[in-house]
Amino acid sequence: MKVLAIESSCDDTAAAVIHNGAVLSNIVTSQDDVHQIYGGVVPELASRAHMTAIAPTIQRALDDASATLDDIEGVGATCGPGLIGSLLVGLCTAKTIAYAKQIPFVGINHLEGHLLSVQLETAVAFPYVALLASGGHTSLYFARGFGSYELLGSTRDDAAGEAFDKVAKVLGMTYPGGRLVDELASKGDPTAHRFPRAKLKERKGRLPFDFSFSGIKTAVAFHVRDHATQPDQRADVAASFQEAVVDMLVTNAIGATQSVDAPTLVVAGGVSANSRLRQRILEEGSCQGIDVIIPPLRYCTDNAAMIGLAAERRLEAGQRDGLDLNATAVADLQHVAAP
Ligand code: KG4
Ligand code: ZN
Repeated sequence: MKVLAIESSCDDTAAAVIHNGAVLSNIVTSQDDVHQIYGGVVPELASRAHMTAIAPTIQRALDDASATLDDIEGVGATCGPGLIGSLLVGLCTAKTIAYAKQIPFVGINHLEGHLLSVQLETAVAFPYVALLASGGHTSLYFARGFGSYELLGSTRDDAAGEAFDKVAKVLGMTYPGGRLVDELASKGDPTAHRFPRAKLKERKGRLPFDFSFSGIKTAVAFHVRDHATQPDQRADVAASFQEAVVDMLVTNAIGATQSVDAPTLVVAGGVSANSRLRQRILEEGSCQGIDVIIPPLRYCTDNAAMIGLAAERRLEAGQRDGLDLNATAVADLQHVAAP
């Protein structure tokens, strides 16, 4: 089945064409330049930028796949979680195409896309645990099979990428600063400062592998303020901060994988680009006999190919959504039904 997929949950406008699980095209129009001066995503500006970018992005995805809308047999779009105004642009466009062309439509949970993105490149057998770490979410899911996902832990406050971006700002870098912190950290000493690692006790309402990143973000901000960190000391701060975040991510991800006795751990989301995270999680996985798989970066960050993969599988299984399907800012993956 040839499927057109659209993703617009945050600040990237993305479209892809998928056919039998193969990616025929995968286009992402970034809004980084729109939000850079504000130091973070401005929801209203994001919606407007999606409005401008959506049609040309879809056209490029069709052109790259040597297809026209007449060749498309089904449409899928992210319906949540995300920024509501952003989601609506992609979702309404997808529904309009489905209506105009009289082809089936399905809404896809953004997190299911991230969780399946590894399958775009490698046929990874279920079950596996997935660490999703980006600017908007940080969570651990146990994927038992397609459409069967259990949340093992998630952040109680900031996402890991958000902490990277805020620390980058404190260190005087531009948004989004995760990659810049990573680069600066490579020149610093990760043992120079001991920033706090949050260890959340399991109790009612908490999951066994929950995260918290707001404490470390604040600790770094106070450190930089109180010690009037000089430019030549910033690399040590970046490296020590990064080490602490990576410690928390790796400890919980490996612990969660062991707790469900899964053979494989998949890492996705923009933070999986972090060089220290990649190194540490691969090392720790190999020590513990866990196969750690990190998809290529183009499938780790927000993209429509991952949405297309989920959409094609759901459409082929006969799932259809009505054109009254709405976008939802909060959408729990555990309640996504198997097709
Ligand atoms: O998945 P993504 O592209 O978009 C969403 O947030 O959904 O992730 C972007 C996040 C940003 O917070 C960015 O700073 C972070 O991923 N990031 C990194 C690195 N590259 C991107 N964080 C740490 N190290 C990196 N190398
Ligand atoms: Zn995402």
